[in-house]
Amino acid sequence: MMATGRFITLEGVEGSGKTTQAALVADALRARGRRVTVTHEPGGTRAGEAIRAIFLDPAVSLVVAAELLLVLADRAQHVRERLQPAIAAGDVVISDRYSDSTVAYQGYGRGFDLKLLADLNALASDAMRPDATFVLDCDVETGLARTRARVRGGVRAPDRFEGEVVEFHRRVREGFLAIARAEPGRVTVLDATAEIAIITARIADAIDALMAH
Ligand code: TYD
Repeated sequence: MMATGRFITLEGVEGSGKTTQAALVADALRARGRRVTVTHEPGGTRAGEAIRAIFLDPAVSLVVAAELLLVLADRAQHVRERLQPAIAAGDVVISDRYSDSTVAYQGYGRGFDLKLLADLNALASDAMRPDATFVLDCDVETGLARTRARVRGGVRAPDRFEGEVVEFHRRVREGFLAIARAEPGRVTVLDATAEIAIITARIADAIDALMAH
C-alpha cells in the first residue's frame, strides 16, 4: 500500500492543553501501529527554535509587523524542512499550532487584515492545509490560570502573549471559534475542560476515521 500521511493541527488559547494532548494522541496512535511525528510552531526546526526565542521573549521588543513576519518565517521553514518530508514519508504529523494561530493571534488579536493574512499564510505554508484541526476551547481565564500556575511553579518564564490583557485573549478565542464556524469540515471544537483521556480518545478516533478515507 502507498504511504498516506496525514496532517493534523491542534489549536487553542493559552493553557488549553494542546501540548499535553499532542503527546497523548501520538502515544495512542502509536499503540494502534501508526507512525507519528509530533512538532510545534513556533519552532520545530533549528531556524524555528532561534526564531521562537526572539518571538516569545517579552524582553525583546517587537513591533507587531515584525512579530507577524517572524512567525511566518518560522512556518515557511517548518513546512518545507519538517512537515512536508514527514507527511511524504507516510507519517501522521501532529503540529501543536499552525496557520490558524496566526489568524487568531495576529488577525483577531493584533488586528491584521484577514485577507492579507490568508495570502501571507499561503506563501508561508506552501498552501498546505491541515487534513483536520482540533481547537481545544476553554474560557480564557481558565487557560491563563493554568499557564500562570506553571510560571509560578517555575516550570517556565512568562512569554510575550501571556502578558497581554484578557481582552486580547478573548479576541484570540473568538478567532478560533470563527475559523471553526467557517470551516466545519476541517475544524472540530473540543471542550478543553473535559477529562484529559476523553479528549485524547476523541482526537485519536477522529484521526483513525480520517485514515480510513
Ligand atoms: P507556546 O509556548 O508554544 O505556547 P502554547 O502552549 O500556548 O502553544 O507559545 C506559542 C505562542 O505563540 C502562543 O502564545 C501563541 C503564539 N503564536 C502566535 O501568536 N502566532 C502564531 O502563528 C503561532 C504559531 C503562535
